Amino acid sequence: MSISFPEQGWFKAPSAGERLWIGLAIAWCIVLTLAMPYWHFKGKQNSTGEAYRVTPAEFYQRAQKFIEAYKVGEDRYTAIVQPPPGTDVYLTARMWRWDPVLKLKKDQTYRLHVGSMDLNHGFSLQPVNMNFQVVPGYDHVLTLTPTRAGEYSIVCNEFCGVGHHTMAGKIIVEE
Ligand code: CUA
Repeated sequence: MSISFPEQGWFKAPSAGERLWIGLAIAWCIVLTLAMPYWHFKGKQNSTGEAYRVTPAEFYQRAQKFIEAYKVGEDRYTAIVQPPPGTDVYLTARMWRWDPVLKLKKDQTYRLHVGSMDLNHGFSLQPVNMNFQVVPGYDHVLTLTPTRAGEYSIVCNEFCGVGHHTMAGKIIVEE
């Protein structure tokens, strides 16, 4: 056996400098551990946890109805949709696009329904970096209140095939 007992008296109490660093590391662990539940209740970027079972075909129909009702234009073959403030809005994910482009009003709350037509995609809103899974078979509801006007990109952050890196969408927020 290659393992032998250490010599008697091998343990030396940590020096003052070592104790300080151990203390700092433990204190930081406690801060980060508390930050998780704190941010869950106080943060404004959490999922509502609301999701309903829906077939991709059903979700697609709802999204199409929504697009037809509020379409205001087109951006490179993708419909631009401006729904009334405070309503239900739909966003479909599929290989490899987000549909439609949403035009929202600042400081209005929307119920954003996100659904996948095929496989698992990742909804990543940039540059605010809010990230949610989009699992097929579910209508994921996110409560969204844009607080700043501007153009936001939606990128897919779940690998979904050869076109994954091209899967980008847009949300426009107006004053
Ligand atoms: Cu969709 Cu990656």
